[in-house]
Order: sequence, then C-alpha cells, then structure tokens
Amino acid sequence: MRKPVVGISYKTYVNTIDKATELVKALAEVAKNENEVEKFAFPSLGVLYPAAQALKGSEIAFGAQNISPYENGAYTGEISIESIIDMGATHVEIGHAERQHIFHETLEMIHLKTKLTLEKGLTPVLCIGEEAYLENKSERKQVLKEQILTSFGEVDTQHIGRVILAYEPVWAIGKAEAADAAYVQQTHELIREIVKEAYHTETAEAIRIIYGGSVSKDNVYEIITHDDVDGVFIGRFGHDPANYKQILHTVKQVKIK
Ligand code: PGA
Repeated sequence: MRKPVVGISYKTYVNTIDKATELVKALAEVAKNENEVEKFAFPSLGVLYPAAQALKGSEIAFGAQNISPYENGAYTGEISIESIIDMGATHVEIGHAERQHIFHETLEMIHLKTKLTLEKGLTPVLCIGEEAYLENKSERKQVLKEQILTSFGEVDTQHIGRVILAYEPVWAIGKAEAADAAYVQQTHELIREIVKEAYHTETAEAIRIIYGGSVSKDNVYEIITHDDVDGVFIGRFGHDPANYKQILHTVKQVKIK
C-alpha cells in the first residue's frame, strides 16, 4: 500500500518569523497522531530555519521549496541542500510551475536538482503538469512523459520509486476551483503508465502521485477517492489551520481503510 501524502507550500505568502512559526505550530497541533499520513510543509524559504525549529519533535516533516542544483560553490544567491539537511529537512520541492515560468527554471536544472536530492537521501516532490487543459489523452501523456523522463534523466532507476510526483496542471493553480476529479484520476493513471513503460511495474506501483492546484476542504474528497491519487499538495486553501485539518482528516478517512 502506498502511504498517503498531504503536503503544503506557503510559497512566499507568510514571510516573517513570528507569523511563520505561529502557523507551523498550529499545523503541528492539528496533525498530531495522524501518522498514517505522510505530512510535509514547505515554509517560505527565508524563514525555513525558524519554522524548522518550531516543527522539531512534531509529526510534520519539512523541506525547501527550491534548492540549488549544485551542492556548494560559487553560486551566489542559491540555497544549498547542505544547509537544509543541517536543519533537518527531508523533502525538496522541485520544478514548481512558478519557478519555471517566472524564474525560467529549465528541465535540465530540474533534473540536476532531482538527482542531487535523491543522492542526498531526501525526497523530491517533483512538480509536473500541462500548461493548458488537454482533452486529448495521448497529447496529455506525451507532454507529461517528456517532463518526467527529462527530469529523471540519468537518475539511478532504483531511486525513482522514492520520488513523490506532484501533478499540478498549470491551468488549475491559483484558481477558484481545482481540476475536475475525473480528469485528475485519468491523468494520474497516465503518469503511472509512463513510469511503468520507462522503468518497472514495481516502481510504477510504489511511486506516490499527488494532486496540487486549488485543493480545498470542499473539493478534496472528490479528488482523493480515486485510486491513483495518493494525496494532495495544498496551497492557499490550507493556510487556515482549520481547513488544513479538514483536508488531512478527509485524506486519512478515505485512504486508510
Ligand atoms: P494553490 O497552489 O492551491 O494556491 O493553487 C497550489 C500549488 O501551486 O502547489
């Protein structure tokens, strides 16, 4: 059985030490004794260290929303994986649509970051997703296949099952509504097929595929009831700890039989 996942990213919405620590403490409180679900938070990078301190001893793992593709060296302004490991991070978000579109991150950089994260023993949360709604299944599969295979590149195939693939259709990020749940399930099935065809059946069965893009307490049930959806990646609609709690409980109820 694949362990269900609930992740949350604060992007750069909550950027002061006081507010960020208060928020993650509230999350840790509502996530108590929910250890059947894997939970991680990506605080705003500038407050990662104090947020990490606030999460110490809690059941919520944490990580960075981005890392440098290089371990260390002359890379001004980057955040090294060495620092986040030192803080106790376990997850790294890689290739979010905003990084690709606003900061021109390429698939080659995404590949280097994925490889480095796996080599260091952390869990990459690798974001993939088509730009626009694609009714045609084979076109959708082709776009995602290119993203997945280029991002994995020469990664040691035995590590691929450890990746969490975050399917985030770009057209559903930052909207009032998430993508239609049937479309999400169909796409997760396609993603599993891509992994199976390129690697092994066991890898495809082991890999967790989570959905992100306007997930809320009101739409999570519909999305999570599908078999190939292993969890959700929350943005804005999880900032309120009460909403986060409801999302987490729904995932647990549906996935833990
Ligand atoms: P959103 O963000 O839920 O605010 O759309 C999701 C994401 O970008 O991961």
